[in-house]
Amino acid sequence: MLLRAGGRWALLAALFISNAVAQVPGKAKACAACHGEDGNSSISGTPSIAGQPRIFLENYLIMTREGVRGSEVMQVLLKGVPDAEIIALSNHYAGLKASPLSGSVDRNLFERGRGIAARSRCGSCHLPNYVGRQQMPRLAGQREEFLAEVMLQYRYNRRRGGDTMMSAALYGIPETDFPALAHYFSRLK
Ligand code: HEC
Ligand code: HEC
Repeated sequence: MLLRAGGRWALLAALFISNAVAQVPGKAKACAACHGEDGNSSISGTPSIAGQPRIFLENYLIMTREGVRGSEVMQVLLKGVPDAEIIALSNHYAGLKASPLSGSVDRNLFERGRGIAARSRCGSCHLPNYVGRQQMPRLAGQREEFLAEVMLQYRYNRRRGGDTMMSAALYGIPETDFPALAHYFSRLK
């Protein structure tokens, strides 16, 4: 009797686990090739997307599907994908844990970046711990070279589909400060 009950629980547990696995959206397989299995990218120039705010992800992916943002590969991948699937993808990545960038910390550069970010009030939108909220992306733990490049894109209005709010936020910050900002954010836990 006990054994049978135990067997039933094991079966229920197995069903529950296979259900949880099945909830990973099918498209995520294609994303993993570039953004990493757990949403943390190990490819230079490719951002990590784990732990990004859900609304930021939804906006970015919908605009990419419509062909006004993102890379060509992503536009092709998302072409015709229904809203429900985009929402599922966004929930999936928003719920994954962002792991801080490994690699050594340059203390001087880190402290310089911390000072510039504080003086420039970047945390007023991205939150004081830079994990982002709503349409404001997470900066903490993002890849260093991606952050530096993307700031240049905002500075020179080269970011396709980018929010002009960010170009305004960088106004008055010399681009020689971007490497320190990028180093600081990327090493934040
Ligand atoms: C061939 C590689 C590749 C594939 C596959 C890919 N991406 Fe990307 N993704 C990139 C690159 C490169 C960027 C940086 C583009 C940019 O500057 O906006 C990016 C940017 C992003 C961003 C913006 C992140 C940020 O912080 O600004 C999101 C969100 C994203 N991808 C989600 C996805 C999802 C979801 C999928 C699967 C449907 C996917 N990507 C598939 C390479 C890829
Ligand atoms: C008024 C609000 C606001 C302020 C202040 C602000 N940001 Fe942003 N930031 C945004 C928004 C919104 C986005 C998303 C823009 C988009 O979708 O193109 C963004 C995006 C970014 C990105 C791109 C990250 C990614 O993963 O795509 C970087 C880097 C960034 N901000 C750095 C900074 C820095 C550095 C400061 C301080 C100098 C700052 N931000 C201040 C609103 C703000």
